[in-house]
Amino acid sequence: PRPILLTRHGESKDNVRGRIGGDTAISDAGELYAKKLANFVEKRLKSERAASIWTSTLQRTILTASPIIGFPKIQWRALDEINAGVCDGMTYEEIKKNMPEEYESRKKDKLRYRYPRGESYLDVIQRLEPVIIELERQRAPVVVISHQAVLRALYAYFADRPLKEIPHIEMPLHTIIEIQMGVSGVQEKRYKLMD
Ligand code: G3H
Repeated sequence: PRPILLTRHGESKDNVRGRIGGDTAISDAGELYAKKLANFVEKRLKSERAASIWTSTLQRTILTASPIIGFPKIQWRALDEINAGVCDGMTYEEIKKNMPEEYESRKKDKLRYRYPRGESYLDVIQRLEPVIIELERQRAPVVVISHQAVLRALYAYFADRPLKEIPHIEMPLHTIIEIQMGVSGVQEKRYKLMD
């Protein structure tokens, strides 16, 4: 069985400031994670010639992948973070204060709530379909470097978690989730490379 490695990008400058969305670079801690990830991937997939690294089209995932050498890298727009529309670049406190109705509707139904001019979790789940089809077809290992909301949806698909749980799945930074699909079902391992 071949592994699929799922990870969020290294901590971004917007993560540090508590801002959602955006397209910032990674922080110093994020850079350190990128190096540790590269080490891990190079060891783990050493003899896997056909393995590949998939990122989103956003800087923070591309930068996280950049220290990894020896494997082809593919950028997918479908792996971009949930589009927060008019709330892109805001903190949750700012949304709560300036758009209390939006804040409340999201809290009530995070799965279905669609940001004005942006996306809902259901939208993200739908746009991931081609990625999932391609992941299923791959015979070689794949490292997916993406974002919190997107990885919640991908993880739920492989771990067979119910739809309603998806927006609430814990998806920590600086942690690799390794999924192995074998005849006896799906196995999972986690590697926390740093805090
Ligand atoms: O920037 C967006 C976050 O990664 C998604 O988190 O859906 O829990 O607000 P959330």
